[in-house]
Amino acid sequence: MEKSPGKKNTAVFISGRGSNLKSLIKYSKTKKSLIRIVLVVSDNLSAKGLIYANKSKINNIVIKYSNRKTFEGRLLKLLKRNNVDLICLAGFMKILSGKFIKQFYKPILNIHPSLLPKYKGLNTHNRAIQNKDKYSGATVHIVNHKLDSGKIILQKKVKILKTDSEKSLAKKVLKIEHKIYSKAIIKLLASD
Ligand code: GRF
Repeated sequence: MEKSPGKKNTAVFISGRGSNLKSLIKYSKTKKSLIRIVLVVSDNLSAKGLIYANKSKINNIVIKYSNRKTFEGRLLKLLKRNNVDLICLAGFMKILSGKFIKQFYKPILNIHPSLLPKYKGLNTHNRAIQNKDKYSGATVHIVNHKLDSGKIILQKKVKILKTDSEKSLAKKVLKIEHKIYSKAIIKLLASD
């Protein structure tokens, strides 16, 4: 009999809109999904993304950031209690410390709206347009102790047109983000 690897218990961390969370939930509900979203964490009580977690009856919690030690300590306990095997950052605006990454000891993925290593940090679309880049795109990468610098799992390009504004480019890139996050998860877990 074929061995079934089982689904990875996944936590998604958000801070705002949650459109990537929405697409991950959609993927997790497909027959062939390799993940089960067991937890959604937000550091922001008014994150719109919490609506998607509630709609799909996914356990979710808001942890207010007071200081890093307390915040990450609470996170680690929560992750352990929920047997989380994989964290997906999806618009999560807090930087996780090297200590947290080491202590969690399992993969943490992030999605970033640029062709890394270009444009780490914020304002990626504006910077790509200002530099007259021909392409932008989205990247899913492993999170390490340096901002937006971990191993790239998957990247997809989109053409920047002369007529593109920051807003129109952001829209195009977001569309790509929704496609590649689940593909990157499949790629990561296939190499497990
Ligand atoms: C996305 O553009 C993602 O790449 C970046 O933050 C944004 C989050 O969007 N890290 P959403 O909350 O998933 O809609």
